[in-house]
Amino acid sequence: MDKVIAFDERRDVIVPGDYKTTIRYCVELFLKIAQDAIKDHGYFAVALSGGSTPKAIFHGILASEQKDLVDWSRVLLFWSDERCVPHSHPDSNYRMAMESGFSKLPIPKENIFPIEGEGDLEVNAKNYEKLIREKIPSKTFDLVMLGMGDDGHTASLFPKTHALHPNERLVVPNFLPQKDVWRMTLTFDCINSARNIILYVLGANKAKMVKQVFTGPYDPDTYPVQRVGTAAHMALWILDNDAADDLFKDKG
Ligand code: 6PG
Repeated sequence: MDKVIAFDERRDVIVPGDYKTTIRYCVELFLKIAQDAIKDHGYFAVALSGGSTPKAIFHGILASEQKDLVDWSRVLLFWSDERCVPHSHPDSNYRMAMESGFSKLPIPKENIFPIEGEGDLEVNAKNYEKLIREKIPSKTFDLVMLGMGDDGHTASLFPKTHALHPNERLVVPNFLPQKDVWRMTLTFDCINSARNIILYVLGANKAKMVKQVFTGPYDPDTYPVQRVGTAAHMALWILDNDAADDLFKDKG
């Protein structure tokens, strides 16, 4: 099943195959979106995600021969969320992305915009919004990369947290009582204005939640990832066979 399935009016799904095949598909698609954006308007503004799947995709990008088709000097690197730790910390999403490949690509330093997770978080969030508005001529991302936690969170938009409330913001600090930590995150308004919104969900441990968010009642306070994608800005869910297993079980 490697064709795009129009699941509903705001969500497409594709299941390229097993884990390895799916990562390869994700890498090729990333490089294609980057080239298309640069051809279309001269730059590619992407918000990178944390998590194990993006990490594998970043390694794949670095290893890909097709990476040379991208003019990396025209890439603007942002993040979709960040942990409140120094950039040198092992939990830092910025550090993970750089170590997993981006530090070896010829992206000018001045085009790399890590989220500040230390100090005054409200000020940091406002500054990041300002950066997005200043540095991206169209004010919207060409690609927002997202994962889904097995509790249904995406970016750092966790169940029953403040950042889920409408807030007319692009970036907010968000306290996660379930982890007793603060995070920085793009908001749904920001995510849902992107030209490409992609959820990368791989692994058998995600199968149950995938089925829930697609076929269960709409309850985004409990399953925040349900809010990703609109009729005007559809979300593409890329699932591997294992993650898609429960969703398509009865459909063959
Ligand atoms: C983070 C994320 C988070 C992640 C999901 C899925 O900083 O951890 O942005 O939302 O994408 O938890 O992570 P996996 O890809 O590891 O399943």
